[in-house]
Amino acid sequence: MIADELRIIGSTQTNVVMAAEVTRVAQRALGARPPAPRKEGLGQLIYPFDGALAWAAVTYLRTPTRVLWDVYRSRQTRLEPLYDELVADIAGDARPLIRDRDGISVEARRVEVVAAGERQVVGTVKNALIDAAARRGVRLHVDPERPATRWVARGDASGLVVSIDLGGGSLSQRGWRRDAGEAPLREHLAAVLLMLGRFDPRRDALVDPMCGSGTIPIEAIHAARATPRPASALPALAVLGLARPAEPLFPDAAPLVIGCDHDLAVLSVARDNARAAGVAGDVVWQRADVARLAPGLVADIARERGRPAPTTGLLLANPPYGERLDDPGLDELYAAIAATCRRFRGWRAGFLVGSPALELAFQRAIGRPRIKKPLANANLRAYFYLYEL
Ligand SMILES: C[S@@+](CC[C@H](N)C(=O)[O-])C[C@H]1O[C@@H](n2cnc3c(N)ncnc32)[C@H](O)[C@@H]1O
Repeated sequence: MIADELRIIGSTQTNVVMAAEVTRVAQRALGARPPAPRKEGLGQLIYPFDGALAWAAVTYLRTPTRVLWDVYRSRQTRLEPLYDELVADIAGDARPLIRDRDGISVEARRVEVVAAGERQVVGTVKNALIDAAARRGVRLHVDPERPATRWVARGDASGLVVSIDLGGGSLSQRGWRRDAGEAPLREHLAAVLLMLGRFDPRRDALVDPMCGSGTIPIEAIHAARATPRPASALPALAVLGLARPAEPLFPDAAPLVIGCDHDLAVLSVARDNARAAGVAGDVVWQRADVARLAPGLVADIARERGRPAPTTGLLLANPPYGERLDDPGLDELYAAIAATCRRFRGWRAGFLVGSPALELAFQRAIGRPRIKKPLANANLRAYFYLYEL
């Protein structure tokens, strides 16, 4: 049957953060509050489909990994009836989802609801699309490399859902990463951490004391401005008639953002990444050991840029976890991080970390976290901690 919903997918445990970002973006870009979403699991939001909301979502959202338009739904568990149902739905669908001579690609994810393998489901959906389009005089062909629209078949509690991937793949990759450095944070998770840390660019300085390849500082600038994804990265919007001109939603945002690391080589990677991300002049990169970081250094950097010393801000990082949980070096490092945080009175500090040793070090030096939230990082179990300093 025909479906018509906007599905926003992110990491598990990020539903609330994603919903808050959807509301903020919709209000600013469209001047309207979106309806309350239906939540599926801990990492998916579903809204009634609305073309303007879909455009705003895929153009501006930074916390999700995918934005899909669910267009067909089937409870069939065998391939032949699935094909027949899809052909009937697609052939009779008045929505402009397909254009003559367009290339398409089809992928399948978790399709155990159908008694067949992923490849067979892909073949069935692809054939249904091409055959049903042909009945309408529309010629489609398969183009896995540069499709006009990417189609996704995925199973959920109600059966098989066929969607168009409006972002054309993972939205986590922003396109600027040249060299990952060691254990980079995925970009959408950096956006999640900024929201969980309540980063307010009008008021807060942002310091990542262990910035590695620079993901958090780079993300902080784009999140502050709500930089749109370029139209060239979102070809499906034009195909589906959903494209609109897009400008940054907060073009004047200019927070003080500093990335520190003790490793000069990774700082040079971070600089290259910032250049590729178009924020070379917006982030200050500083070689510093986290143990030596202090408000005085941040004040000096602010003064050099003609700004007042910040009185509040967010220290945000994903520190090394270490190879082993009982690595004695880690205890020392986490104690140094906690001691540094004590110097930043009036600030907040947020960390994504897989080892419980950080919480113990902070328990001794600072106290209990304001927020402790499970959040997987690259499939490793981790927690996000937020401390008021
Ligand atoms: C897990 S990585 C951070 C990854 C980063 N968020 C990214 O996206 O690339 C941890 C970083 O901490 C840095 N680091 C480790 N010990 C440090 C210390 N004592 N002072 C400053 N940086 C340190 C490492 O050089 C490494 O770049």
